[in-house]
Amino acid sequence: MAVTRTFSIIKPDATRRNLTGAVTKMLEEAGLRVIASRRIRMTRDQAEGFYAVHKERPFFNDLCTFMTSGPVVVQVLEGENAVLRNREVMGATNPAQADEGTIRKAYAESIEANSVHGSDSDENARIEIDFFFKPEEIVG
Ligand code: CMP
Repeated sequence: MAVTRTFSIIKPDATRRNLTGAVTKMLEEAGLRVIASRRIRMTRDQAEGFYAVHKERPFFNDLCTFMTSGPVVVQVLEGENAVLRNREVMGATNPAQADEGTIRKAYAESIEANSVHGSDSDENARIEIDFFFKPEEIVG
């Protein structure tokens, strides 16, 4: 299996509860390596640009408000089949449907405040990594 990269966000509900370390530990225990990490307060423009694919969805405005409501930690993760591995350890988008042992089962508060974001494909991982990181900020 190929070593690939994915993009992760630890969301405001998790940073507010001081869970950055706990979430990162679960990512690392799933075999993912944090090769770039930055704590930021997302601007409204960044949130709207990052989630542009959802702009017609009814939850778009609330999602952007939530993602700018506090600090987030943007990360690049590397590992074997990183996109899939990260999605497995994150669990289902809706925590009510997330499996035991996943980050969202353990920590998510709701479908919106669901603690983590992860890319859904290798192509989107590249786009999302480029959105937040310069190549020299990623040290694999
Ligand atoms: P994320 O992986 O960051 O991508 C889009 C986000 O929209 C998703 O996680 C959820 O947190 C959020 N969201 C809010 N409401 C909904 C909804 N009804 N259906 C899907 N995603 C939602």
